[in-house]
Amino acid sequence: MDRVTKQANNPYQYKRKLTSFNRARDAWSSIIEKFIKQNTDATVILPAYIGWSKNEGSGIFDPVDNTNIPFAFYGLNKHLQIDFEDFKKKVKTNTNPIVLLVHYFGFPDSNYDEIANWLDEENVFYVEDSAHAMLTDLIGGICGRKAAYNLFALHKILPLETGGLLVDNLKQNLEIGRNPSSLTNTHSLEYDFKSIYDKRITNYKLLINHLKDINGITILYPELKEGVCPQTLPVLIHDTNRDAIYFEMNKRGFGFVSLYHTMIEQLENSTFESAIYTSKHIINLPVHQDCEEADLVDMIKNFKLVLNNG
Ligand SMILES: Cc1ncc(COP(=O)(O)O)c(C=O)c1O
Repeated sequence: MDRVTKQANNPYQYKRKLTSFNRARDAWSSIIEKFIKQNTDATVILPAYIGWSKNEGSGIFDPVDNTNIPFAFYGLNKHLQIDFEDFKKKVKTNTNPIVLLVHYFGFPDSNYDEIANWLDEENVFYVEDSAHAMLTDLIGGICGRKAAYNLFALHKILPLETGGLLVDNLKQNLEIGRNPSSLTNTHSLEYDFKSIYDKRITNYKLLINHLKDINGITILYPELKEGVCPQTLPVLIHDTNRDAIYFEMNKRGFGFVSLYHTMIEQLENSTFESAIYTSKHIINLPVHQDCEEADLVDMIKNFKLVLNNG
């Protein structure tokens, strides 16, 4: 056999199996269901920042709640960075953990590598939630490959109504749609991911430049690390009523959101004070690929007026 073949012919090398689902939560549900079947004493370990809304339910928690699987939360600070000590404690003290790492707003945790390496050393089953971070994974290449499974929500990045993808990194076989191939929402591949990635980054940097001198707000991720493609630009509003600003900005035609304005009830009255603070104060500015520079500059001008920063 040739030591160096004329062309690549190992079908498993760098392969990531994709399976289509209606939404990311359906992919997450199927992972949990398969995992419980094989591990009856399983516990789901989740981040303490999970929202809920009347229309959407909870994309992260509903799949857990729909089973009777026990769950525990790990702490995050106000910037949604993982409290590694609490994380380790929760993973160690619960039986047969299935751990979810969420790349909120497209940003992997600043200790992502360390955390994933620790999980690998401890032989823990974990899943990456890249619902907001599909392009941080596909173009940036800095998340989504370490866990057994990874989740995309196409409709959170692309102009689509629905679309979930389960990325199987072929590390552990839970037999979720591996055979035959079940990739149906291939129309999403017709979008130019690299240009969308670039445009979101350009928009993010433009907003950051204008937001720097605004008093009374904290930018959750002031640094845009190489490889990160933002879903939105989250800030904390400290002294002004967040909901009033949300409504006023939307009234003026600027599509701000608050992810997550309402926590699931299991977290709402919990001791995870930092995450609760973030939920009560967060507002997310749009940076998506349809935003144009002049409109974003106007958006900032209005944001300053609404915040009374002139
Ligand atoms: C971080 C995160 N993960 C997963 C989901 C679920 O996505 P989907 O609406 O495609 O089920 C959501 C949204 O609900 C989310 O915000």
